[in-house]
Amino acid sequence: MSAYYQDQKLMVEGLAVDNMAKQYGTPLYLYSKAAIEQAFTAFSAPLKDRKHLICFAVKANSNLAVLNLLARLGAGFDIVSGGELARVIAAGGDPAKVVFSGVGKTRSEMAEALKAGIHCFNVESIAEIDRLNAVAAELNMVAPISIRVNPDVDAKTHPYIATGLKENKFGIDILMAPDAFRKAKALPNLKVLGVDCHIGSQLTQTQPFVDAIKRLLELKETLSQDGIELEHMDIGGGLGVTYTNEQPPKPADYLAHILPLIPSNVTLVMEPGRALVANAGLLVTRVEMTKDNGFKRFVIVDAAMNDLMRPTLYQAVMPVLPVVEAQQTGPISDLVGPVCETGDWLAKDVPLSSEEGDLVAIGGAGAYGFVMSSNYNSRPRAAEVMVEGTQAHLIRQRETVAGLWAGEQVLPE
Ligand code: LLP
Repeated sequence: MSAYYQDQKLMVEGLAVDNMAKQYGTPLYLYSKAAIEQAFTAFSAPLKDRKHLICFAVKANSNLAVLNLLARLGAGFDIVSGGELARVIAAGGDPAKVVFSGVGKTRSEMAEALKAGIHCFNVESIAEIDRLNAVAAELNMVAPISIRVNPDVDAKTHPYIATGLKENKFGIDILMAPDAFRKAKALPNLKVLGVDCHIGSQLTQTQPFVDAIKRLLELKETLSQDGIELEHMDIGGGLGVTYTNEQPPKPADYLAHILPLIPSNVTLVMEPGRALVANAGLLVTRVEMTKDNGFKRFVIVDAAMNDLMRPTLYQAVMPVLPVVEAQQTGPISDLVGPVCETGDWLAKDVPLSSEEGDLVAIGGAGAYGFVMSSNYNSRPRAAEVMVEGTQAHLIRQRETVAGLWAGEQVLPE
């Protein structure tokens, strides 16, 4: 976690969180630039002597400042939509370092990505192989592809974020993959570069990754006998982080297990999202009021499920960090927002003595936080700020209420 306490006060790098909350208002997303840099280096340093490409999964945090920072560190990007491609380009990312994942790419998204010159399309079905070949043919281009296979391994994570099982919609079943590769190789407007997989998110063990990579290597061997040589292997993202008690392997340990498996002439592509940004971010919120119904104490804050979906959507447990450290002890309370839904909670059963006017932060909010926020209950989305040492940079202004209906129109009289 990049936030820490100093003299009882929650800090991000050299700045006190309470001052930033005063300056920018709440709810507020705060990110540490140094924490993102450190997380990126934790992946890139062990890979320095290997052919590799670290493609940040844009879906985890797509703020232009975050993308630009990662691009400057040398990152490529894993995108899943035309919108994400446009963001990467707007942020100064290199399209030649982009991989395009997703099961439902539209023809126009394919054409845009081809024209931008992306590194490769991670193709997820036979239908997509045909569609991409046709789109590339129309443009008189050759589309570089990797086939995403579904290795059927259990990632041992929450069912909504497990993606590598037979029952999931992702990838081509590994047993059907050789035929898919043969088909793709025979098509004139596709060039097969590699194979890829992504088995799930918030994985806390190395073994499922190792199992998946071994299956990919067997497939590579089979294809090689058929004269199909793969230049790159994309092992997806998925490495978990510590929110509260989880003990995922550190990037260096995870890489130490998988690097020896992968032949050195193969370019290793990875798509980490959460591991690069989750613990660089906080969601800061102010207590509006508290109430105790005799059964339970509720701390009602000005952030809600629309600002941070993870707790209610995945029953995710994220750390609660009162901005004054001593408030970490106190009556067991639920931290809830003002949205009219029983599912509107940010944390359950935490010791907390914060009262009206106090500030509380939720840790681990740098990944799948702001990006999953919505305007439900006509709530403008939060501001985002990135801290760099003792400087704070506003990287997205708070939305305005009037802005919420900017594209709407009433019917004529
Ligand atoms: N590559 C692909 C093809 C993916 O689908 C994903 C995430 C990633 C890479 C990045 O995975 P990561 O390294 O972040 O685990 N909203 C959920 C997580 C959804 C993940 C979807 N795919 C959450 O808040 O837990």
